[in-house]
Amino acid sequence: MNRRNLLKTAGLATFASALVPSSLLASRTDEEKKNKEGVKSVVLSGKRKLGNLEVSAIGMGVQNMHRKYTSTVPYRPDMIKILQAAYDKGVTFFDTAEAYGPFENEKILGEAIQSFRSDVVITSKFGWNIDLETGQRLPGLNSKPEHIKKAVEGMLKRLRTDRIDLLYQHRVDPEVPIEDVAGAVKNLIDEGKVLNWGLSEPGLQTVRRAHAELPLTAIQNEYSMIWREPETDIIPLCEELGIGFVPWWPLACQLLTGNIDEQTRFVTSDIRANTSRYSPENLPQNLKLVDVIKTWAKEKNASPAQISLAWLQAQKQFIVPIPGTTQMAHMEQNIGADNIKFTAEELNSLNSQIDAIEIKGLRLPEFVLQFSKVEAPLKN
Ligand SMILES: NC(=O)c1ccc[n+]([C@@H]2O[C@H](COP(=O)([O-])OP(=O)(O)OC[C@H]3O[C@@H](n4cnc5c(N)ncnc54)[C@H](OP(=O)(O)O)[C@@H]3O)[C@@H](O)[C@H]2O)c1
Repeated sequence: MNRRNLLKTAGLATFASALVPSSLLASRTDEEKKNKEGVKSVVLSGKRKLGNLEVSAIGMGVQNMHRKYTSTVPYRPDMIKILQAAYDKGVTFFDTAEAYGPFENEKILGEAIQSFRSDVVITSKFGWNIDLETGQRLPGLNSKPEHIKKAVEGMLKRLRTDRIDLLYQHRVDPEVPIEDVAGAVKNLIDEGKVLNWGLSEPGLQTVRRAHAELPLTAIQNEYSMIWREPETDIIPLCEELGIGFVPWWPLACQLLTGNIDEQTRFVTSDIRANTSRYSPENLPQNLKLVDVIKTWAKEKNASPAQISLAWLQAQKQFIVPIPGTTQMAHMEQNIGADNIKFTAEELNSLNSQIDAIEIKGLRLPEFVLQFSKVEAPLKN
């Protein structure tokens, strides 16, 4: 019987987590299974710390579960099953945002985790300019303190909870001092509605100012074998300040899984169609990186996705990737990455092979890139 059914059967869903340590609720009998693709998947027992917040060593990004890169709408009951199965297998860290949908993605996560809410860490993000009544995306950003307060009220309802474990500012608002944002989050923390906070894609000075005002738990930026710039500045800064680091697009939007080839083209509404890293001109060069990953996958009896995630984990103890998937077999595979380890020698060798490949094209469309690395204005 899995962890959720155990709770349901006992009729203790609401209270059990307070009475029984979660480790005793876990079913850990099916230690090693083979998923549909024949790759070993294991139950995830590894934990990591983002600041003082303990999470499973691999988390899960929920963003694609209401629409997969705008090309398909996944079947909602299946998404809920995948999220619940992920929890049964040890995942306790789930990432969403009010902008995903907007709103719809938080609702899927809220429904999926309701019966085991106390045992998991959930994140959401504010900051894009969204009409909080209609859910309509308006141009630009909005981190005005009054807006943050209202945005979080909506999140709590959609996520069916009374607190957000980790609340991120999705992008730095160039019109609002970060001290004011920290002040708004501090009020929410004082009310018990938010437990920790973080920033996504911030400027470095903004991180320092934010952390001085209200200690940050995590920075969430793009980082993977194909985009290593964070190693030069923001990851060292996180290390210096004791802040966790959560890489988004840890599989580079599928590129690092080996499931994209030179012939792959994207529908125009898919962000990859407008991102030159995935263009027909640049794919052949960038796929050289995937060839390296595939070689290591063979060597380690793993899948390319597992090598890509294990590589991220090997960089620093305070790094927790949040791969996204809409497939049960992929979820099982991804958590299996926690069992793949590199010796220092292997890591050096892999890193030098990665370094030797010049990556072509931008990581995001230019109109999106302009929102990254922004410094918040100074407070008068
Ligand atoms: N802070 C930010 O600004 C920001 C921006 C973007 C994303 N994020 C967060 O990052 C999370 C992850 O991003 P993402 O899901 O877009 O990108 P990703 O994790 O880099 O890649 C997901 C893609 O890889 C495929 N995939 C996953 N596991 C696989 C496996 N084992 N084998 C083969 N293919 C696999 C998925 O397809 P299938 O569905 O078919 O498995 C999907 O196409 C999001 O959910 C979101 O929470 C944050």
